[in-house]
Amino acid sequence: MSGPDQLQAVAAAFEAHFGTAPQVVASAPGRVNLLGEHTDYNGGYVLPIALKHLSVAVAVSRGAVPGVIEAWSDTFHEAETRAIGEARAGRWSDYLLGCVKAVAEAQVAETGLRAAVITNLPLGAGLSSSAALEVASLRAVTRLYGIEMSPQEIAIAARAVENDFVGMPCGIMDQFTSSVGQPGAALFLDTRTLAFTPVPGFAEHRFVVVHSGVSHQLTDSGYATRVAECNAASAALDVEMLSDLGPGDLARIGAIPEPLNRRARHIVTDNRLTREGLVALQQGDAVAFGRLMIASHASERDDYEITVPETDALVAAAVDAGALGARQTGGGFGGAIVALVPRAQVEDWCAAITAQFAHARVLAVT
Ligand code: GLA
Repeated sequence: MSGPDQLQAVAAAFEAHFGTAPQVVASAPGRVNLLGEHTDYNGGYVLPIALKHLSVAVAVSRGAVPGVIEAWSDTFHEAETRAIGEARAGRWSDYLLGCVKAVAEAQVAETGLRAAVITNLPLGAGLSSSAALEVASLRAVTRLYGIEMSPQEIAIAARAVENDFVGMPCGIMDQFTSSVGQPGAALFLDTRTLAFTPVPGFAEHRFVVVHSGVSHQLTDSGYATRVAECNAASAALDVEMLSDLGPGDLARIGAIPEPLNRRARHIVTDNRLTREGLVALQQGDAVAFGRLMIASHASERDDYEITVPETDALVAAAVDAGALGARQTGGGFGGAIVALVPRAQVEDWCAAITAQFAHARVLAVT
């Protein structure tokens, strides 16, 4: 369910819970990243696609109690009541509370807020469920109070909520893709300048997203450890950000201590692969693109060490079953893989993969 159906469903969930229709409904998509992983907080390039049928929808109205947010989620089957002045509490409503605080604290202090949330985006799959919740919340609340914000401004505000309120030191890829991306089209983004180029997908091939069945929790320490390692590598190499480095720097990168050398090498590798990926996509060269995906997975696995045995096995099987390339997508430590499959073979390919892996689930074909 997505688009108008999902908006209707969130309005119905709101009405069932609160007894009145919502004043505003909004939604925002998840994303699958094709190339450029963990490059975004290093000022590098990324190449994601906003997903057409996987999204979060939020319905809101002015509330009954000044300063209080009453939130309901069908996904968690849980009502949460939060005061606008509260700190984060490690709950799903933190994302909503953080977004409301960021743009409409004074308004909600006066009117209160009611919100219902539904999603068909699996959590912990590496498809940006939290960014989609943030962007949908910001879209809904800004419309409710008549606050003007551009899609870029919403992306920047959403990332700030995630960094400063939720406490996850992510880059801007997910929020930018959810807010600015056109569902179904790829977006090449320079995360340092926020300059971006939309690119259509391949005519005769599809990107297939398959969940490995292993869910991650990015607020766990693995992600933050990588951010800290990149900062330490930048200091050791005397650059502001690792994206200042290129293939010509690989010798001096190799000379800094383990594992910082491999972390920095991954950023240089994936940045290059992402730039090459843009060209391959623009030229319609699916074979070249598939090779870049395979190289990117190897770098995620060997240098960045963010893959798990289940995603490694799935990527290998994906290629054996006829994909031109495949790699783990998103923050890592589990979650989903994305594979590039000839359009005519998608159905058979999905059947072969799900027959082989009991826990694998096809989430999207784009
Ligand atoms: C998560 C973060 C993003 C990005 C990816 C890895 O999705 O939210 O900012 O760092 O991991 O590429």
